[in-house]
Amino acid sequence: MRIDETGFHEPVMGSEVVSFLNVASDGWWVDATVGGGGHSESLLRALPQARILGLDRDSAAIDFSKRRLSTFGERARLVVSPFARLGEVIVGNGIDPVQAVLFDLGVSSRQIDDPERGFSYRHEGPLDMRMGPDTELSAEEVVNTFEERELLRIFRDYGEERRARDVARDICIARAEAPIRTTARLADIVAKAVRPPHTTKSQARIFQAIRIEVNGELDQLSASLEAATDHLTPGGRLAVLTYHSLEDRMVKQAMRGTGRERPPPDLPVDVDSGHRLVEVNPRGSTPSAVEIERNSRARSARLRVAERLPE
Ligand SMILES: C[S@@+](CC[C@H](N)C(=O)[O-])C[C@H]1O[C@@H](n2cnc3c(N)ncnc32)[C@H](O)[C@@H]1O
Repeated sequence: MRIDETGFHEPVMGSEVVSFLNVASDGWWVDATVGGGGHSESLLRALPQARILGLDRDSAAIDFSKRRLSTFGERARLVVSPFARLGEVIVGNGIDPVQAVLFDLGVSSRQIDDPERGFSYRHEGPLDMRMGPDTELSAEEVVNTFEERELLRIFRDYGEERRARDVARDICIARAEAPIRTTARLADIVAKAVRPPHTTKSQARIFQAIRIEVNGELDQLSASLEAATDHLTPGGRLAVLTYHSLEDRMVKQAMRGTGRERPPPDLPVDVDSGHRLVEVNPRGSTPSAVEIERNSRARSARLRVAERLPE
């Protein structure tokens, strides 16, 4: 695992992202999840005429990236915003249409490793998990107020946890004794509900599921993939790095369109087919063994890229 002194990892599949998004010599690229600015910096270095609009719903990430990318002057513009507002932000900044949009989903290692943010079962902290100030619901509210069947749905759908039923039941029993306020208490309840040897994996899945619910991550993603496509120039590209199967399925479906075959790449595009995107790497790309060895966060990554067809 390689983390720099600021707590941000090196960007996942950085060189692959740059080569997939090397689509034009100038114009605007959008980094919808700028985080620590790793991908943005790689793009700005590799494409000397490119300009980047970076979004993040976490103002700490934007402050950090502003400092990191300050050497690029006006080539980097950064705004605090959830990416569900991507379309408005692109139009509001007068940069429509754009050459590419990149999403690198999930949380940054900086967010995970800060106990006060409450994302990790490994660090004791308040049960928060909000990525930014635009998120109202906290993990504490989810865990203490959602009905058992709602918790079950979240753990099953967003965590793909086999023992979801046991965990939901044990949370409800525990919270009747006293509200669950810390990551450590939740982690302990999960560990006892699932028992060894799968405790760590289950803790990770349950925490992931709650984080997805708190931040409305799947709703954010589905709204944004459509908006990104709307604002891409023909020949422009959408690239998405996902870290679990639900996100990946959603991205695959958005890139393929639903219910229709994608047009054969060697035929003229059928403008009535309803397809606005064609997949560039239909099976998705995964990190090299060397990258996974160096950066454990890359382990579950899949990069999907699609290109905007002409109208
Ligand atoms: C994996 S990190 C990105 C790391 C970045 N690519 C880099 O190279 O440093 C994901 C970032 O996306 C942000 N994020 C997640 N969901 C978001 C959303 N719906 N809107 C805006 N930002 C979001 C998180 O706050 C986090 O900073």
